[in-house]
Amino acid sequence: MGAWIKVGSIGDVGVGRARCVRVGGRKVVIFNEDGRLHAYNDYCTHVGGPLSQGSYENGIVTCLWHGAQFRVVDGEPISPPAGGKLRSHGVRVTGKSVEIQIGDE
Ligand code: FES
Repeated sequence: MGAWIKVGSIGDVGVGRARCVRVGGRKVVIFNEDGRLHAYNDYCTHVGGPLSQGSYENGIVTCLWHGAQFRVVDGEPISPPAGGKLRSHGVRVTGKSVEIQIGDE
């Protein structure tokens, strides 16, 4: 596993919100679901739509390109045309900083 990289502050991602950050040239979306953060590649597993720009309600993100849906707590697809589970990354809060750890590919 890689190093933890600061990507912002906890205040940048409010409860029920999503935010896209760049980590080493990669786009990562961070969701704040009931105060817990979850991080994934910001690419829908259908054909790469930006999930950070989709709608995010009740723990589900809906891709704005073709409507695939994913459960935010674990990245599992719950509605077609999703192509599979979202690729997750480590995310933690240290002090007031949000840090991401890119997993092995
Ligand atoms: S790219 Fe997300 S549903 Fe098609």
